Amino acid sequence: MKFFVDTAEINEIRELAETGLLDGVTTNPSLIAKSGRKILDVIAEICEVVDGPVSAEVAATEYKQMLKEAKVLRKIAKNVVIKVPLTPDGLRACHTLSQDGVMVNVTLCFSAAQALLAAKAGATFISPFIGRLDDIGQNGMDLIADIVQIYANYPNIKTEVLAASIRNPIHLIEAAKMGADVATIPPGVIKQLYNHPLTDKGLAAFMKDWAATGQSIV
Ligand code: E4P
Repeated sequence: MKFFVDTAEINEIRELAETGLLDGVTTNPSLIAKSGRKILDVIAEICEVVDGPVSAEVAATEYKQMLKEAKVLRKIAKNVVIKVPLTPDGLRACHTLSQDGVMVNVTLCFSAAQALLAAKAGATFISPFIGRLDDIGQNGMDLIADIVQIYANYPNIKTEVLAASIRNPIHLIEAAKMGADVATIPPGVIKQLYNHPLTDKGLAAFMKDWAATGQSIV
């Protein structure tokens, strides 16, 4: 499973890139707004740090304007993925861009029917939002399972399932068990993945016993 980080904060991205475990980055208009910086600067800086796919979302809602924005965004770097919303105009833009060899991430997916449309439009990634479905009392994980199952029925579908709106490590593990290709994870949740109290306890015991030997390896 590929790990993307869901943030526009360059310092967090640098720190995660250093671990060697980061495969890509997703941003959205809210994350860009939170960064307080200009989208073109942020995306360019991220692409200098990360070689994998970096999603930059269009702000337009109309087809022609989306294509104009995509033209600007894709010039930033080869690894820029154009992110479009799951609307009729967004899917039309997805179709045009993917025919032109551009990677496209279709975002704001909340149903299996929408995911099927995105695949037919040639999306590189489909982003089903788990947490936001949970928030309204629906089961976000069921959507991941449905999309993985449907896509598996059609070997000609190359669209990757990118589990999004992940709020905790359980979302990630469940998505991995279901076979989602990618997860985009907030930095705080990535940090949680490392933690287990038995690891801390075990390490403390090893260190105590080692100190008692008086040895050093180097
Ligand atoms: C995905 O690409 C989105 O940026 C993101 O996962 C949304 O997550 P949220 O529902 O926590 O805002």
